[in-house]
Amino acid sequence: MSSPPSSDDNLPLRPIPGGYGLPFLGAIFDRYDYYYNQGRDKFFISRIRKFNSTVFRTNMPPGPFVAANPRVVAVLDALSFPVLFDVSKVEKRDVFTGTYMPSTTFTGGHRVCSYLDPSEPRHALLKSFFFHLLASKKDQAIPLLRSHLAEMFQKLDDQIHRKRKAYFNSISDNELFNYVFRLFCGKDPTQTKLGSWAPTYFELWVYPQVAPLGSIGLPWYFFPINVVEDFFLHTVPFPAFLLKWLHRKLYDAVYTSAVEELKEAERMGLSKEDACDNLLFVLGFNTYGGVKIVIPSMMKWVGLAGEGLHRELADEIRSVVKAESGVTLASLDKMPLMKSVVWEVLRIDPPVQFQYGKAKEDIVVRSHDAAFPIKKGEMVFGYQPLVTKDPKVFENAEEFVGHRFVGEGEKLLKYVYWSNGRETEGPTVANKQCAGKDLVVLMLRVTLVELFLRYDTFTVKLGKPLLGPTVTITSLTKATSY
Ligand code: HEM
Repeated sequence: MSSPPSSDDNLPLRPIPGGYGLPFLGAIFDRYDYYYNQGRDKFFISRIRKFNSTVFRTNMPPGPFVAANPRVVAVLDALSFPVLFDVSKVEKRDVFTGTYMPSTTFTGGHRVCSYLDPSEPRHALLKSFFFHLLASKKDQAIPLLRSHLAEMFQKLDDQIHRKRKAYFNSISDNELFNYVFRLFCGKDPTQTKLGSWAPTYFELWVYPQVAPLGSIGLPWYFFPINVVEDFFLHTVPFPAFLLKWLHRKLYDAVYTSAVEELKEAERMGLSKEDACDNLLFVLGFNTYGGVKIVIPSMMKWVGLAGEGLHRELADEIRSVVKAESGVTLASLDKMPLMKSVVWEVLRIDPPVQFQYGKAKEDIVVRSHDAAFPIKKGEMVFGYQPLVTKDPKVFENAEEFVGHRFVGEGEKLLKYVYWSNGRETEGPTVANKQCAGKDLVVLMLRVTLVELFLRYDTFTVKLGKPLLGPTVTITSLTKATSY
């Protein structure tokens, strides 16, 4: 374990290096570097080297004409990044997707919770609604998830039996979507008008909202295909009115399913329409969007870690489940290695990679080496995959170390930022930390436990990452000792 650094108030004040280039052209050049010439990680790492600083100015995609102002101050180390959690210093209004905001046509004209700054009164009301919703589902969360995971593993077994391999993403996406819909709305999505196409409809609704951030990842020599892609994805905003029918379809499915939940929202002072659009967003964007990335990511990292770690996990999980007679919150808490592995997945591959916030006043941010003045109104931006692999905080930061957060290692949890806050802290109505933080960690823990109750070991093959890793399971060895 590295000794965690502390922020030094006496660091020299330095002007922020970097720049934005010529108006308009600078943003386009940076966008081409980011998507096609360099790629994401190289884009940031090359600039850290060039400026000899983890804090610098750059343009962030998409830029013109999707985003009016692409200029940001990037904060790319573990010390400067947390300024983005301090809502007294940065404004989180309309920055959930970055320097642009998708049309509110996607959400029935409502600005949903994720786009609200805590200073806006609706933020506390909506976040309280989610806290209440999650608290009311607390007893169902584990048993319902276990029954969906049982289905998932059965389908994986069947596919491996038939094809000698199983495409993990499609099977897990489907099962976990059904879980989340049932948990939040109290009904199986197949019992709604969405039928078995429910997850696909939700994906069709989410993707256009994040399209300006994506690319199929063709390098520069695929010219001019990448120019065409750049035009359609990053230059012109998606005409959201084309998907009004889809929003209506999803809205109706949630409205007719989450009847009790929406009544409760009304009792709390929200209109049913506002609550329904917010629930739709939390379900389809925050939760399903996140789970689609993070569960395959866990399968990837644990799969690649190999048989040694699998044996240790299986031993720990099986002995605790036996001693505690089941999978409960209390028994999960007694599995230090399993917990550490989940945190390590969230550290090495934070599922939401970008965070933004606009300086509310003139502020000073501190990196390991210097202090930097940021002016009121400037956009602060963090790319989390570099931040949570800060070598000045984490030893062998690029490596997946399953035991990293066991025992003394837990002290480093305050540098795990996946939820838009420290792992040692929790969401409140006054901050912007993920309202579902505990549920997400619980889902990962229960999935890992179910995996190693059923199997001794497994192997994976990775495909080309799209939104997250694409995982094919190439073998699953049934548990011999449970
Ligand atoms: C793997 C799944 C999830 C991931 C990776 C994730 C991640 C995040 C992140 C990074 C943010 C902060 C975004 C920002 O402002 O920069 C956030 C916000 C939020 N998340 Fe999650 N989330 C997940 C699941 C959930 C679930 C299950 C809920 C259920 C209630 C939820 C509800 C929210 C809400 C309401 C916000 C906005 C918080 C606020 O406005 O204060 N998320 N999430």
